[in-house]
Amino acid sequence: MIEFQHISHHYPGKPENLILDDISLTISKGECVGLTGPSGCGKSTLAKIGAGHVRPAAGKVLVNGRDLTCRPNREVFMIHQEPDLFPWQKVAKQVAFAMSKPDNRRVEQLLALVKLRGFENFYPGQLSGGMKKRLALARALAVDPELLILDESFSSLDATLKNELYEDLRRVWQSTGTTILLITHQSADLANLAHREIRLSAAKPTTISETINLVRT
Ligand SMILES: Nc1ncnc2c1ncn2[C@@H]1O[C@H](COP(=O)(O)OP(=O)(O)OP(=O)(O)O)[C@@H](O)[C@H]1O
Ligand SMILES: [Mg+2]
Repeated sequence: MIEFQHISHHYPGKPENLILDDISLTISKGECVGLTGPSGCGKSTLAKIGAGHVRPAAGKVLVNGRDLTCRPNREVFMIHQEPDLFPWQKVAKQVAFAMSKPDNRRVEQLLALVKLRGFENFYPGQLSGGMKKRLALARALAVDPELLILDESFSSLDATLKNELYEDLRRVWQSTGTTILLITHQSADLANLAHREIRLSAAKPTTISETINLVRT
């Protein structure tokens, strides 16, 4: 279980410019939660706070009751919009490298799950945009985090490829049960995937404007 407790945030030196105002959110194990809201409302900031990369002005991030606020860790793993792959490392190596204990069978399983079997010896530069995203997903799963955050990970892709990747993510979620926080501009991306949509407000400072329970088929 991951808890964001009363998170408020402004960037350093700008206390008058409060970005997040008292955001509380609990994500249960195995849940997929969508986070939406207008550009600039603070979705990425909240994600970075969740992953321990940014210290909130107030509030805590607890993972299974452990306070991991501002502590980069393996429990919460974030995939950025542009995957930060290692250009010098081949696909299989890249996935193995992310594991706490490299396990070749697991590497093969994960590559099969994201449809990258046969590309083990390719470098990231030899992959298409969609394949790079799928490699980033396999690498994140190799970390085996308590919470996987996808911050607009597929947003830059054309609609067909984007939908395909969300379908892949759905399959991955079904087979691994990974707990996911999915950040996107479009509520439509959450269809058949997220259990809940948390909408952040357009008004400043940002609060949770509503929580919508989604019907899953
Ligand atoms: N490192 C930083 N220093 C100062 N201000 C920042 C920094 N990063 C983000 N901000 C500001 O914080 C606010 C929220 O930014 P954030 O990137 O979290 O929004 P977002 O909801 O993810 O937007 P988008 O949908 O466009 O990705 C913006 O006003 C932005 O200018
Ligand atoms: Mg963002």
